[in-house]
Amino acid sequence: MERTNFTTAIAATKNPAKIAIAIVKDKNDEINLITLEWFMRTSIKPAMFAISIGHTRYSFECLQNFRYFNLCIPSKEMVKAAEICGTKSGRDVEKLELINQKWFSGKLKKLPIFKSALANFECEIVTQVKSGDHTIFVGEVKYSWLNEEKKILLFEDLF
Ligand SMILES: Cc1cc2nc3c(=O)[nH]c(=O)nc-3n(C[C@H](O)[C@H](O)[C@H](O)COP(=O)(O)O)c2cc1C
Repeated sequence: MERTNFTTAIAATKNPAKIAIAIVKDKNDEINLITLEWFMRTSIKPAMFAISIGHTRYSFECLQNFRYFNLCIPSKEMVKAAEICGTKSGRDVEKLELINQKWFSGKLKKLPIFKSALANFECEIVTQVKSGDHTIFVGEVKYSWLNEEKKILLFEDLF
């Protein structure tokens, strides 16, 4: 064991990592999507997920305004969608059009549920906490969706 810098230690310990795509809505009622590595389950009852969003992201503005997000756990076939949602900003492009994925409105009828994802979780934001240059938004899961036959997309599948 040797002392090292944070960047080296985190690079060596992060994989295998899952990723998610959070679906949000802006103040003009337009859908935006953001690829996330920093998300986690935070409560059993009620079920909750936390997502950590950088303050420079367009999705951060969206989440301050519209207090719901869908947490999509992408399948391997959504690799291009995850790349687009993780490299382009909703300030510049309509990601929902670009990714060309089939979807339907969830039970809450607020945000798209992606048909080829492994899972989708419809969440309502219950609290948020600033964490350095990100804010953690905690959402209570209202409805869950699953495609059992799909294979999960991993960080290492990207790019
Ligand atoms: C694999 C991957 C994981 C990412 N994880 C996060 C994350 O956890 N939090 C975050 O704020 N940005 C994360 N990003 C960066 C955003 O997805 C990216 O900046 C995106 O273009 C922001 O879009 P927006 O401006 O429409 O919100 C990640 C990007 C990639 C490719």
